[in-house]
Amino acid sequence: STEELDLRIRAAKAALGERVVLMGHFYQRDEVIQYADFVGDSFQLAQAAKTRPEAEAIVFCGVHFMAETADMLSGKEQAVILPNLAAGCSMADMADLDSVVECWEQLEDIYGTGPNAEGKVPVIPVTYMNSSAALKGFCGEHGGIVCTSSNAAKVLEWAFERAERVLFFPDQHLGRNTAKKMGVPLAQMPTWNPYKPLGGNTAERLQDAKVLLWHGFCSVHKRFSVGQIEQARREFPGVRVIVHPECPMEVVDAADESGSTDYIVKAIAAAPAGTTFAIGTEVNLVTRLAGQYPQHHIFCLDPVICPCSTMYRIHPGYLAWVLEALEKGVVLNQIKVSEDVAVPARVALERMLALKP
Ligand code: 13P
Ligand code: SF4
Repeated sequence: STEELDLRIRAAKAALGERVVLMGHFYQRDEVIQYADFVGDSFQLAQAAKTRPEAEAIVFCGVHFMAETADMLSGKEQAVILPNLAAGCSMADMADLDSVVECWEQLEDIYGTGPNAEGKVPVIPVTYMNSSAALKGFCGEHGGIVCTSSNAAKVLEWAFERAERVLFFPDQHLGRNTAKKMGVPLAQMPTWNPYKPLGGNTAERLQDAKVLLWHGFCSVHKRFSVGQIEQARREFPGVRVIVHPECPMEVVDAADESGSTDYIVKAIAAAPAGTTFAIGTEVNLVTRLAGQYPQHHIFCLDPVICPCSTMYRIHPGYLAWVLEALEKGVVLNQIKVSEDVAVPARVALERMLALKP
């Protein structure tokens, strides 16, 4: 039962004490997030992974790519545990190393590899945090960098100081929304479809490209629509609409603001009492915020529920199971990135972490 699991988790955590750190992403369900020592967006959790090297293990209540990142940034001897190994991210799965390498080779044929007169290289790869460690490694090896939804604009600026163009993967929406806000015309942002030769683009079209967008997307954020925003505005005149930049461009354009989960959390915390918010992001976060800020009216733009179903796979039962094993000295469900991948991936991650806030 729920009570029994709660007692087991609390007992194991108390027995483990400082030996374990529990981290949870904002989208994690409340039944799990209540035990977390750190809660944050994916950028904050990457930073947090560095802060407790003395703990034996980090139990990561998020999805696979976040646990991989924690493993690469945490102490050498620390184990990172993902309570349910089936907690992946469908967007991260939309870009695999082989397809990216194939795309990269085609781009090298079109653009060449040498720097131009200003010393800029033809293309820099930028991977969204929501990607495998292998792709972060690819970026590290090719002069590229990682970004999260909270620093994508800053990362693109960094890239444009060094390159004529960016290859952005896996999320086309974050790439398009960010570059559009920076003034890049849509005509210069072709989408790369790996299933078509040249991504369905002609070499001439690719000559003008500034940001090549991988075709990936988040199935949760893709559900939000302009119709939902119009309805919210009809029902609640004056409503403040904030959406995550993984939403399609028309949705971001129709909203009042867009930003990462941490941006949404801070915007709500700073608002005057009595504000009505329509939020376009994962429902577990929206419901939690509605409970935490009863002085506002906060609701999710999607009237049907839209949980991140993979994040939801971290059930309290799995948490109890891995914690109790750890108490006995057994590490279950460890996420370990091999050093040949981790070394270049850390280069790309550290480039991002070194950017000024
Ligand atoms: P944040 O960068 O806001 O944490 O978002 C991560 C994510 O997976 C959104 O779908
Ligand atoms: Fe991946 Fe979307 Fe879930 Fe974020 S919300 S972890 S992008 S599937």
